[in-house]
Amino acid sequence: MTLPLVIGNWKMNMLASEACDMARSLVDRLSATEGAEVVVAPPFTSLYPVSQIVKGSRLGLAGQNFCSEKKGAYTGEVSIEMLKDVGCGYALIGHSERRQLFGETDEEVNKKVHLAMQMGITAVVCVGETQDQRKAGETLNVIETQLSGCLAGLSSESIAHLAIAYEPVWAIGTGSNATPDQAVEIHKFIRKFLFGSQGFSEEIGARILYGGSVTPENCKELLGEEEIDGALVGGASLNFESFCAIIKSSLES
Ligand code: PGA
Repeated sequence: MTLPLVIGNWKMNMLASEACDMARSLVDRLSATEGAEVVVAPPFTSLYPVSQIVKGSRLGLAGQNFCSEKKGAYTGEVSIEMLKDVGCGYALIGHSERRQLFGETDEEVNKKVHLAMQMGITAVVCVGETQDQRKAGETLNVIETQLSGCLAGLSSESIAHLAIAYEPVWAIGTGSNATPDQAVEIHKFIRKFLFGSQGFSEEIGARILYGGSVTPENCKELLGEEEIDGALVGGASLNFESFCAIIKSSLES
């Protein structure tokens, strides 16, 4: 059985000192708990100091984004090698905020996925439909298009370093999460895509997470579903007790 994966996406929140305090508290709490793979994704400026705190602990570190080029004259960008250098074992790729606010395309996501795999960094690829797309009955088409674009050219072995986060755009930061049934439907579809049409090895596996307004109140129900291998948590990961409650639920489910 694979351990649940719970990732806290801190987005553009917390100064370095706050991020370090939070990381210290999480490291302490995790040392007293069994199981669950727990990861935090602080802003770039906090990655290095946080990495010094999580070193040797059970808390993993993720970048929220990185450049689709390896290195060079790309002012303002951060490379995958730089993420690895500061101790990131994971990277979020194609978060809907990157797609919607910064115009990231499936093609760029695909380049980043390949770069992450080359570095041995677990790529957490985010997919999800908007409210309008769901209303128009296009959800499955949208997910399929995103998955085929984002995962093009991946080998079956490389998916050991892959997680897919299903994050319906309408559920992100809105307080209205997908129901377990809605999430399970899409998770099943993603699983079928990966291990059916793409022919990836189910034995190697890739975890499929749910994200979008996950809270201590709804996580038990969501994470209790066999199809849901973990959670990508935004808002609720900024509060220590809320995030710990979600981690605890992931273990009980
Ligand atoms: P949320 O964010 O939990 O605040 O909805 C999730 C995400 O954006 O990954």
